[in-house]
Amino acid sequence: MTKGIYIVGTDTDIGKTLVTGSLVYLLRKNGYNTCYYKAALSGAEIEDEVLIPGDTKFVCNISGINEKYEDLTPYIYKTAVSPFLASKIENKPIDVKVIKDKYEKLKGKYDYIICEGSGGIICPISYVENQIYNLDNLIKEMDMDVILVTSAELGTINHTILTVKYLENVGISIKGIIINKYENTELCNDNISMIKYMTHIHILGVMPLIDGNCDEFHEEIKKLSEKVFNPKEIIKCMR
Ligand SMILES: Nc1ncnc2c1ncn2[C@@H]1O[C@H](COP(=O)(O)OP(=O)(O)OP(=O)(O)O)[C@@H](O)[C@H]1O
Ligand SMILES: [Mg+2]
Repeated sequence: MTKGIYIVGTDTDIGKTLVTGSLVYLLRKNGYNTCYYKAALSGAEIEDEVLIPGDTKFVCNISGINEKYEDLTPYIYKTAVSPFLASKIENKPIDVKVIKDKYEKLKGKYDYIICEGSGGIICPISYVENQIYNLDNLIKEMDMDVILVTSAELGTINHTILTVKYLENVGISIKGIIINKYENTELCNDNISMIKYMTHIHILGVMPLIDGNCDEFHEEIKKLSEKVFNPKEIIKCMR
């Protein structure tokens, strides 16, 4: 039976895609038949008059997944706002059933699926039964656990603890934390200690801040994935 996990972040732009790409690459390299799924993406680029979901493209490129983007990301919007607002602006409402059906279809082909959330955990996705339907509603309905990506930078203690408490409050199980954009400074080291001390959640890996000018950005992420993560440990997080 296919196992899955949701990668969620303390904020948008925290590094969910970079970390997910690194994890999907590592699992596939180690022989685990793994795919990527992102239910809704906003801020897509237009290439040859076609909307291209940047996160999906990045993960496919780095990990070698060969699937149509629309099968991995059913809802793609140009406007760089929450999926719910983008769906209103672009008049293309999100049907949660379509998200679940597409995910089920992928399960027929893959043993492991790593899903990437949109934005932070309280990211509006849709409007169901007169209520805003957020990312956490979707994760609960899909009966999945999460790995939380957080940064090592200033402000992370507040963002991380708030996100952990919220997830615990809504009954979503956190299988581990991944710290991103790490630099060997007193601030980053203390942030990691504080997050460990305050959450008691296992740290699955610490991804360094990669030089933005690095020509070989993808190659560097691949190299780091093997140093930072243990594939067996990531697989153990999935159910
Ligand atoms: N460890 C890192 N080192 C250097 N740059 C990074 C690192 N992690 C992320 N970035 C950069 O930060 C930006 C945001 O990262 P990313 O796209 O992974 O965030 P995200 O959480 O997936 O955002 P979204 O909410 O839009 O999905 C990207 O330009 C990415 O290349
Ligand atoms: Mg992303």
